[in-house]
Amino acid sequence: MKYASFLSVLAAGTALAAGGAESGAPLVVACVGDSITYGHGASDRGSKSYPAQLQALLGEGWDVRNFGHNARTALDEGKEWNGQGGMGYRKSPEFAKAKDAKPDVVLFMLGTNDSKPVNWGEDGAGVKRDYAKLVDDFLALAPAPVVVVGVSPFVKKDSFSIREKIVGGDLGPWQRAFAAERGLPLVDAYEATKAAAETSYIGDGVHPNDAGYGVIAAAFASKLRELEPALRERRAAAAPAKIVLPAPKRAAMPLGEALAKRATHRAFSAEPLSDQELSDLLWAANGYNRPEEKKRTAPTAINRQEVDLYVCRADGAFLYDAAENALVRVCKDDLRGLTGRPGPNNFALAAPVALVYTIDFERQGMQGRPADSTKYACVDCGFVGQNVYLHCAATGLNTVFLGSLKPTEIAAALGLPETRVPLFAQTVGKPAAE
Ligand SMILES: Cc1cc2nc3c(=O)[nH]c(=O)nc-3n(C[C@H](O)[C@H](O)[C@H](O)COP(=O)(O)O)c2cc1C
Repeated sequence: MKYASFLSVLAAGTALAAGGAESGAPLVVACVGDSITYGHGASDRGSKSYPAQLQALLGEGWDVRNFGHNARTALDEGKEWNGQGGMGYRKSPEFAKAKDAKPDVVLFMLGTNDSKPVNWGEDGAGVKRDYAKLVDDFLALAPAPVVVVGVSPFVKKDSFSIREKIVGGDLGPWQRAFAAERGLPLVDAYEATKAAAETSYIGDGVHPNDAGYGVIAAAFASKLRELEPALRERRAAAAPAKIVLPAPKRAAMPLGEALAKRATHRAFSAEPLSDQELSDLLWAANGYNRPEEKKRTAPTAINRQEVDLYVCRADGAFLYDAAENALVRVCKDDLRGLTGRPGPNNFALAAPVALVYTIDFERQGMQGRPADSTKYACVDCGFVGQNVYLHCAATGLNTVFLGSLKPTEIAAALGLPETRVPLFAQTVGKPAAE
C-alpha cells in the first residue's frame, strides 16, 4: 500500500483551506493590585481597566486576568483610611485566585494604599517587608512566574489619605531599588502616569481615567513584548513530558439511557477537562477493559489494535498510552485548529479537547489488501468514536465526530512516519453555557 498516496487522497477529500498550527497556549498574565488594577473610575471596567486594555494591545497568545481588589495593601495588616482592617492583599480572595491561575507573569502593582498614614507608620518598614514577602510568594509558585514590579502610579491629588509625598518620595524609589536588587523586571507606571497626568485622572486625583489606564497598559505591554521570547521558552521548558492520569472511573448511566441521549452537539465551553474526566473518557474510548488479555473497549479487525488516540489541547498534543493510563507529550503546539472546518467559527477551537484517531498501517498488516485495509481502518476508528459518543452522553459532555481534518499537517506536527495516518478527529468538551 502506498501510504503517501492514501494521505494525499484523504487530504484532497477533506477539501480544506491551508493553515498552520496555532502557536502554544496563551501566556497567562496575572494583574495583581488594588483599585487601580481593578479599574475603579474607568467608564467600563470590562474594556477600559488597564488589564482589559493590555489584553487588547497584546492580542492573541496572551490571557490577561484582572486580580485587582479595591483598597488593598501590600501590608498584611493593612487598613482603610478610617481604620477598618482586613485590607492586606494576602487576605483577599484575589490572592488565592491569582496563584491558582498558574500565571506565566505576575504584574505586581501594590503600594498606593500603603501610603496612608494608618499603613505606612513612621517609615514604611512593615509595608516594604510584606511587599517583598508577597513577591516571594509568587516567585515560589511551581512553575515560578516572572514577577514584574509595577511602580505605584503618580498621585495627582492626595485623596482617601493616599499621599504623593510617600508614593513619589519614598515608596517609588524603594520599589525601583527592590526590583534592581532582586533582578526583577520593572515597569515605571509612576513616571508614565506623571508624564501624562494632565489628561489621565478622574476627579479624585488617585484613579486614572480611561486614557490613564491606557498609559499604564501601554507601559506593561511594551515590557511584556520584550519578555515574550523568554517567557515562551520558560513555558516550553516547564511542560511535562508525561502526565499520569488518575485511575479511570466508569460512567454510571445505564447503557439504554446513554443510547437514548447519544447525539452530536457542536456548542462547547472552553473550560478544560480535568485529568479525571480525561482518564474516564479515554478509557471508555479505547482503554484496556480486559488488561490481562490486552484487549480494549473498542474492537479491531483481527485484533490488530491499529488505532492510536492523540489528545490535542491548547498546551500541546499527547499520545494516549492505555497501558500506563498516561498522556505522553509528542508536540508542544496547539493542533486543535487542524481539526474541524478552519476559520474563526471552528468549534474545535472553542472546545478544550480534540481527539485525533490515527491508523498504524504497519501494525494493521494488510499491505497486500488495500480495500480491506481502508475498510477496517475506518470502521475501527468508528467504534472508538461511538464509545466516545456514548461516554459523553452518559457524563454530560458534548462531542462531534469529524471527517474534517488536515491529516498531512497533523501527521507532520505529530512527527508520524508515513505508515501512520490521521483519519478522523472528535471534538469533546463541556456544553456551552446557555
Ligand atoms: C464519518 C463521519 C464524519 C463526520 N464528519 C463531520 C464533520 O467533519 N463535521 C461535523 O460537523 N460533523 C461531522 N460528523 C457528524 C455528523 O454530521 C452527525 O453525526 C450527523 O449529523 C448525525 O447527527 P447525530 O450524531 O446527532 O445523530 C461526522 C459523522 C461521521 C459518522
